[in-house]
Amino acid sequence: MKTTKIFADRNLVIGQVSPTLYGSFIEHLGRAVYEGIYEPGHPTADKDGFRGDVLSLVKELNVPVVRYPGGNFVSGYDWRDGIGPREKRPARLDLAWHTTEPNLFGTDEFMKWCGAAGVSPMMAVNLGTGTVTEAAHIVEYCNHEGGSALSDLRRQNGAEAPYGVKYWCLGNEMDGDWQIGHLDAAEYGKKAREAAKVMRWTNGETGLESPEERLKLIVSGSSNPEMPSYPEWDRVVLEHTYDRVDYLSMHRYYEYSAHRSRPLEDFFGSADDMHRFIGTLRATIEYVRAKLRSPKQVYLSFDEWNIWTQAAPRKEPLWKRSPHLLEETYTFRDALVFAGLMNTLINNCDIVRLGCLAQLVNVIAPIMTETGGGTFRQTIFYPFKYLSNNARGETVRTFSGSDTFDCMYGKARAVNEALNFDPKTNTLAVSLCNFAQEAREVELELRSFGDLKALEYVEMSSSDLDAKNTFGRETVLPLPRELPTVKDGSIVRLTLPPMSWSFLKFGC
Ligand code: AHR
Repeated sequence: MKTTKIFADRNLVIGQVSPTLYGSFIEHLGRAVYEGIYEPGHPTADKDGFRGDVLSLVKELNVPVVRYPGGNFVSGYDWRDGIGPREKRPARLDLAWHTTEPNLFGTDEFMKWCGAAGVSPMMAVNLGTGTVTEAAHIVEYCNHEGGSALSDLRRQNGAEAPYGVKYWCLGNEMDGDWQIGHLDAAEYGKKAREAAKVMRWTNGETGLESPEERLKLIVSGSSNPEMPSYPEWDRVVLEHTYDRVDYLSMHRYYEYSAHRSRPLEDFFGSADDMHRFIGTLRATIEYVRAKLRSPKQVYLSFDEWNIWTQAAPRKEPLWKRSPHLLEETYTFRDALVFAGLMNTLINNCDIVRLGCLAQLVNVIAPIMTETGGGTFRQTIFYPFKYLSNNARGETVRTFSGSDTFDCMYGKARAVNEALNFDPKTNTLAVSLCNFAQEAREVELELRSFGDLKALEYVEMSSSDLDAKNTFGRETVLPLPRELPTVKDGSIVRLTLPPMSWSFLKFGC
């Protein structure tokens, strides 16, 4: 059996993990909102119609921030349709997903739901059909104290205190022709620059306030690295907006394409490919920063990431309300690659300060619901839960001797790891993927952490790569393993089964 040695030292740190790295996303798409988070009359629904069973699973995932209301949806959305008395709200055709949007759930309901879920809202403004004025207006509605038409409208609609929404996305995937109101990079850059300015003015910003008082603005970057405009789009957009924004967004979905007879290795190389994608945009930010002679650091917001195998053709009729769309059921294989993607995000925490798993409920999601019925945790739920709850504090740099395999992205590492030391709890979290098709010995040499003591060891492995969970049967999940001994307080030897994900926690 091959042995992979991994070395880490407490003093060699990549950066602090921002809690917002573990965010997620709810779009008006399929059954994410209706029958997902909102289902009046459901046995677990509260007085606002929020499903209690879903709320408790969201809490289990420990999600700090949720992006809303889209996605592609936002580029044709008039936020005013979703406020005020429900009986007066219009049903509209949603041209992004070809469904009918009843507007029974809108900004005020989302803010309430965020309160119930204990998460911060991350709003997206419409820069497709929407204007700079409309973007400023929703900021006024959400954040202005009172005494103006829109802030008073919010109060009239039941929210006396402003919502104080901090995170705002300036449109969504504006580089794609599938986007309503798609623009080229310079057109979008100019529009986003103006929107940012006017949104900040509406928020009462003069430039003298503390960073905590300022909006955190996210400009739309490339919607995936396969776009012909990538990474030129990102450079041009940043050159227009650098001094006015805080984050550049990036999106990426990986898929397992057995039906197109691509080898398994191509899927297993996803984590390393994601690392390269981040590296390119990190370099693009640095390039623009140097060109503009700017002291300011813009960060990355990886605000859509997941596995999404876009295989099945749509079965639901056009214009149906809350149809079953994008209801991916994840396999064990997906969970393994998903854990690798999380390792990559964690290892790039110095530049990726925001992340949104796309999405949260029913639509390419870790949580699935049955209308009027139960829920289940998808396979991908588990790596997210373990890492969002434990991979906190600082990401420690690792030096690994892992061998590599060939895939469509070039070389990828067989053993893929992430290490986090949390000074608050004095614990070390270790996430290990074995993408090799044979078992691997791993020797961890963990220096300067003090006398390590193993506290937890779980593993996800399966002889069936296609194994899935479903309602009433959650069998693909991490299982406890016997705690390893720690030699001399710092050396740990493990055997990782073929194609498996392991999570360990040590007290320091
Ligand atoms: O998350 C599903 C869709 O994927 C989003 O609406 C869009 O932004 C992306 O293309």
